[in-house]
Formats: sequence, structure tokens, C-alpha cells
Amino acid sequence: MSRQEEQFERIKTRVHTDSGEAARIVAAEIAELIERKAGSGDQAVLGLATGSTPLPVYRELVRLHREEGLSFGNVVTFNLDEYYGLPPDHPQSYHQYMWRHLFGQVDIPKEQVHIPSGMVDRAEVFDYCADYERKIERAGGLDYQILGIGRTGHIGFNVPGSTSDSKTRLIRLDSLTRRDAARDFLGAANVPRYAITRGVGTIRKATRIVLMAWGQAKVEVLRQAVEEQPTENLPASLLQGRPDVRFFVDQAASEALTRFRIPWLVGPVSWTVPTIRSAVLWLSRAVKKPILKLQDSDYNENGLGDLLTEVGAAYDLNIKVFNQTQHTITGWPGGKPNADDSNRPERAKPFPKRVVVFAAEPDEDVLCMGGTIHRLNNQGSEVTLAYFTSGNLAVPDGMARQILSLMNELEQELNLKGADGVSLGQVAGVILKKLQAKSPQEDDSADIRQVKSLVRRNEARDASRNLKMAPDRLRFLDLPFYESGGYRNFQPTEKDEKIVVELLREIEPHQIYVSGGSADPGSLSGLCFQLFRKALQAVGGETWLEECYLWSYRGIGQEWPLNAIDMAVPLSPDELALKIEASFQYRSQRSQFPLRHSGHKEIWQQTDDINRSTAEAYNDVGMAEYEAIEGFKRLQPADLF
Ligand code: GLP
Repeated sequence: MSRQEEQFERIKTRVHTDSGEAARIVAAEIAELIERKAGSGDQAVLGLATGSTPLPVYRELVRLHREEGLSFGNVVTFNLDEYYGLPPDHPQSYHQYMWRHLFGQVDIPKEQVHIPSGMVDRAEVFDYCADYERKIERAGGLDYQILGIGRTGHIGFNVPGSTSDSKTRLIRLDSLTRRDAARDFLGAANVPRYAITRGVGTIRKATRIVLMAWGQAKVEVLRQAVEEQPTENLPASLLQGRPDVRFFVDQAASEALTRFRIPWLVGPVSWTVPTIRSAVLWLSRAVKKPILKLQDSDYNENGLGDLLTEVGAAYDLNIKVFNQTQHTITGWPGGKPNADDSNRPERAKPFPKRVVVFAAEPDEDVLCMGGTIHRLNNQGSEVTLAYFTSGNLAVPDGMARQILSLMNELEQELNLKGADGVSLGQVAGVILKKLQAKSPQEDDSADIRQVKSLVRRNEARDASRNLKMAPDRLRFLDLPFYESGGYRNFQPTEKDEKIVVELLREIEPHQIYVSGGSADPGSLSGLCFQLFRKALQAVGGETWLEECYLWSYRGIGQEWPLNAIDMAVPLSPDELALKIEASFQYRSQRSQFPLRHSGHKEIWQQTDDINRSTAEAYNDVGMAEYEAIEGFKRLQPADLF
């Protein structure tokens, strides 16, 4: 990587093909440090983090310990943070996390582990925090600090507003951070409001600092931390200016860095069809002129003179990219029967097509491509909506309680008696008691999870009814890895893969829609995509797959940019309304916060905004004006092998 390419970056950023590769390098550096220190009879002092991000590093360190004899006997650790109010044995405490994923699996002496306590008396917090700092100093300071990054740009729990010299302290968590933690705590209401965190100043003192970020969800915050002026509003940016800070990121998280997004502003570019398209679309939006009105001077004055030298005058280039973009638009996502398909994103034949839409959990499909599902179904394709998981972990207790007490009361009201002695109302009563007896953070028993699965199934059925889909077109795969796991502890196996393979073989689809390709592989959607990928490899070579088109859609807030869209499906105002109505059915997924005070939007509002803004982007570059657009990128099965 030349310095020129990095000229917009204020922090040294290494981009790796995937998180596994980056994590192995970080783990190897840590192992090297531990062994070097051991060689000179010293301790290695590590600063450790939690979240999904460091998991692959911990996995690799455990492997190095087990298979290559790496000893943690001389390692002293200081964790970044802990939720305030959580005892160390609480399943969501960072104490549990660290012992489960690292400490419990290596030979580190217990007394060399330091994690802030969440149980310090309020009156003693200040002294406790000062003492935590002193302990780090007494250990000789941190040799190596690893970090993840939250979506607000926080490191540790240093939420926006934290100053660059802040110290270990009690902090009030912001609403986005609490929303992101809601999945761990089975509901936003259960997420603690406070945490103890080491300060930005304390973190900055470490000799070497490595921040990691995986997946699309971190794209924007990463770009800001790396390329914009440092600001307290984005605490990770306060790492700028420290000499030994490096960011390790995967390709998906690096997408928005200038060197990848607009490489022609950074240095010489080897022009290919996709980069030419990106450049012209970017120029059109940058100078606010539709493609066909771009002039040679626009190219020359905006760093694209090179492109003209290589491919000719603006006039021909404009027409080429205009047509390319125009040809991504189709009202027939399943292909238009009996029509010339030479310039359409989908083939006319076969018709009707068998289509499988995969979603990590019910709602992802409708939110991200509800309009397209409606069109496919309406135009005669045989659409199957396949849900990898039940999504029951994301259903609040309150909803299950409501349903169980309704069943229970209904029986009493109607004075129903079960035929064989045990009635449904009684069963509901038993589960209800269990639900009431459990503390909000306790894991759900299998029967409570089942009730919650049914809540989401019913929402999915209601939503698909809005889209005019027959209820028997829905397939709830309820993959076992999800039912027997929790967030950050999922362990997919061959059993899960087999279920996906069987569905593919049963349907032999002509079209598959799938998401999660650029998500953090540790997240639920990332895990589901990896399973899909393995399943696809297992059916590789089967004839149907050779004729199958794979379409990738993206999650809310991570939609495909204009230059990546290979198929744009316009939605009429009525169709958008229909989709929003369908999205509305996912009552269990509504925000648990009073949104008016948090500045966030409900998911149906976000999906509405996204589809409208994609249509606007098309319109800005000179395409017809549509109400809304859903965008897809075509993947080649071979790219996934
Ligand atoms: C929490 C942790 C941070 C972590 C962030 C991102 O806020 N306190 O240390 O970086 O979550 O989590 P993830 O790695 O799961 O994206």
C-alpha cells in the first residue's frame, strides 16, 4: 500500500480480505509479545475488550495455547469496561464473557485478571476507578490494547462527549448503544443504564493500540474515525495523533474509505467497467448534473481527466453509463415473459421461476425487499420465504406474557374444558408462571422461546398476507444453532447446514435472494450468510445451480450504493404503502424506547426513507422519477466457493 493511497487517512488502517485473516495477525502479534516478555522474565500487560469484534482473536489465542503451547502464565490483563449493576455471574456481564471466551480456556492465573466491577457502591465508585488506574500503572502500563468500535464511535464505553484525557469512570449509556445491546439482554428495557469504563486518556496511554472493525455496520463510523477531524463526538477519532495506533478492518468495513469509494481522487486508477460506472455516477451526483449533461470540463475539473484520456470523450462515456444504469431498472424482478431480455437484469425464461428469499429472521425479508416479493408473487413466480432462525430471542417478555394470559383467561371466560384433562389454558398458565418467575435477564426456557417463536411466525404470516402471499409459502427453518444458543455464543454445525441444503435441493430455485454477505461474520446475519455459503458449496456442481441467479440484498441502513446495484426494482406509491403496512405487522420488533426523546426512527420509517432515497439517487443521475426503489447486487455462485 503506497502512502499516496492513504493520504486521506489519519490513522494507519490495514484492510484484510476477512476478519479471520486480520484476527490471526493480531493474535500472532499478541502471542509474540507474550513470548518475548516471558523470555526476559517480564509480564505482558494486555488491555482487553468485549463485544463480537474481538471474538476471532480470542479464538485464535485459545488455539495457540492448546495447539502451540502458548502460555498465559506471565500475562496480566485489564478489561475496558463492565455494565454497572451486573454481578460477575450475570450471563451478560463482561466478566462472564471474558471467562467464557478466553480466561477459562487458557492458563492465566486468576489474580492476574482485572475487570472493572459492576457492583461497587455508588459512593465508592470514584475511588474504585482511581484505584483501577493505579493498578494499571503499577503493572507498568499497558503493552498492547485491543479495541472494538461501537456504532456511535465509542471505544470501551466512552460514549460521544468523552474527552481525550478522560479517565476510568461511571458513565451513562446513550440510547443507540443501549439499543445495540438489546439483543444481548433480551430486550432494550433490560439493558443497564450505566457502565464503568476506562477513559479515552487511559486507553491512549497504552504502548500499542489496535482497533478492529468487521462488517458493513461499521462502515460510516470507521470512515469518520479514520478520515475526519478528531472530535469528542466520535471518541474513536481521539486515537488520532498517537504514534502506535493501528486499525485492522475487513473489506466490508473499509468500503467508505476514500481510497476505495473515490480512488480517482487519491491516485492513478486502473479503469474497469465497474470503476468507470462508479466514477461517472459519483461525478453526476458531485456536480449535481444528470449523466447525459456531464461535459468534458466536469470530468477534468473533478479529478477524472485521466478517465477521458483513456476512454474518450464525455459524450460517449455518458451514454454508455446512462444505458448501463438504465438497464438495471426493471419492474419484472422474476424476468419478463416473452420479452427481449438482452438488456434486462433477469432472464425471461424459465417462467414462472422458483424463487427462494432467505432471511436471517422474520422481518428482514419484508423490510428490505417487501415490494420485490410482492411483485415476484404477483407476476406468477413461485416464491418461498425461508427464515433461517425463529428470531425468538428478539421478542420482549411482555408480548409473550400478553399472549399466555390471553389464552389462560379465554379458557376461564368461556369455561372451556380440555378433552383429555389438560387444557390449553392450563398449559399457558404453567408457562406464564415460569415467565413471571424469571428475572428479566435470565435466559428463556425452551417453552418460553417456543411461544416467542410463534409470535414472530404469526407476525411473518400477517406481513406476507399484506403482500398477498399464501401462508404456506413461508418456511420456518428454526435452525438448531439458534434455538440452543444466545447472541455471541452461536455455534452453527453441520446439522444447520444440512437443513439449508435440503431446502435448496427440494426447491432447486431459479433465483435466490440472500442478505448478510458483508455483515460481521460473528453477527446473526453474518452467521446465516456463512451457513448459506457452505450449503451452496455442498450443492456446487448440481445442474440447477448453474442456472440459478443469486441476488444479494442488504439490511436496513446498509443499502447498496447506486454503483453496486445490478437490479433496481421500482415501487409505485401504492406498492410502497403496501410494504410499509406489511412492515407494520412486526409488532414485537418495534422500539422499546420512547423514540420521540431518542431521535431514532422505527424500522418501518427507516425502510421507507431508504427506498425513497434510492429512487432519488436514480433520479438525480437522470433516470425516471420513481416513488421508491429496492436495489440488489448480483453474486456469482463461484465467488462464494
Ligand atoms: C460495546 C462494548 C465495546 C464494543 C462495542 C461494539 O459497547 N463496550 O467495547 O466495541 O460494544 O460491539 P461489537 O464488537 O459487538 O460490534
